[in-house]
Amino acid sequence: MKVGIIGVGGMGASHNQALKALSEKTGIEVTAIADRTPEYLARAKELWPEAVLYEDGRELLEKEKLDCVHICTPSFLHADLTVAAMEAGMHVFVEKPVCLSAADCDRLLEVKKRTGVKVMVGQVVRFFPEYRFLKEAYDSGRYGKLKSLVMRRLSKNVRWGYENWFHDEKKSGSVILDLHIHDVDFMRYLLGEPEQFQVRATAYEGGMINQVVAEFDYPEQFVSIEGLWDVAPDLPFHPSFRAHFENATVIYDSKDKPAVKVWRNDGVTEEPEIVKESGVQCGIDLSSLGGYYTEIAYFYDCLAKGVEPEIASLEEGIGSVRLALRELEAAHAAVRA
Ligand SMILES: NC(=O)c1ccc[n+]([C@@H]2O[C@H](COP(=O)([O-])OP(=O)(O)OC[C@H]3O[C@@H](n4cnc5c(N)ncnc54)[C@H](O)[C@@H]3O)[C@@H](O)[C@H]2O)c1
Repeated sequence: MKVGIIGVGGMGASHNQALKALSEKTGIEVTAIADRTPEYLARAKELWPEAVLYEDGRELLEKEKLDCVHICTPSFLHADLTVAAMEAGMHVFVEKPVCLSAADCDRLLEVKKRTGVKVMVGQVVRFFPEYRFLKEAYDSGRYGKLKSLVMRRLSKNVRWGYENWFHDEKKSGSVILDLHIHDVDFMRYLLGEPEQFQVRATAYEGGMINQVVAEFDYPEQFVSIEGLWDVAPDLPFHPSFRAHFENATVIYDSKDKPAVKVWRNDGVTEEPEIVKESGVQCGIDLSSLGGYYTEIAYFYDCLAKGVEPEIASLEEGIGSVRLALRELEAAHAAVRA
């Protein structure tokens, strides 16, 4: 299977490593890579010395005949490149957020329906073992009903990125479509669409939203999610959740060891085994790739079986973008008020 990667910066480099590890087990090969940054292209080629290199993703799509392409560019380029790849008959793995506007949501769905290719969106939290544990605990009902869920994802100001694209809301969608969408997407995976929501927010001086605290109502519980792009620079990246069930409280905190604990109301504390992919292949430690390897392996398994990647399908990625876009509008209204 011939595979291309468009964008091998921060995220694309992880895709490249995961694909290299996966090529040990399956018949995939990265044969074409595009990136605007020459050092990143050179780094990516070290894993695939035969790959053809391009400076632009469009050119790669026009010139190459590939089975599948990974799109890991700045977010504002996702929709056009995904459409072009689908029109060229390629399957697509596109990073989150799949797009940044309602019009692009509609356009992507129309082209996918017409071309019949398979598309997966990199909503990777659905594949993180800590969150898979919570999903399994909720679905099994073993701790009783879920009464509330609080999730947080806190990051310092995003200063990396090609031509500072994170700092242009039209290109990144702000903290809401870039970071907060991970938890919004997981919430939708767990509980479906909320009945209603409200947000509080703050913004940088230039007006781009940099913090959101959103509360979502469901028939039997509420969910509170905070996304923040502006903690003090020395604070490490910090995702967490607290799920309040009838008979237990499940806590994940990336700073704790073990990171996931279940505090049962009967006084017993569980430390569930959180299984990460492990093993070193091709010099690549899969445990450091974690869910990023798992999601990509899942996608190629779906392609091999000829089934839709239902866990993180295009339709699911679009559902999360549509909700996040409504939150973004509400966040700006909250900041103006
Ligand atoms: N799933 C996750 O946890 C996760 C984490 C980080 C980023 N992301 C997503 O991954 C995407 C990329 O983010 P990043 O942090 O890697 O950004 P980045 O700026 O580090 O990398 C983007 C790369 O795209 C290249 N590029 C720009 N325009 C191009 C073009 N026309 N053709 C080919 N290459 C082009 C740039 O040279 C750069 O190397 C974003 O959509 C981001 O939201 C996802």
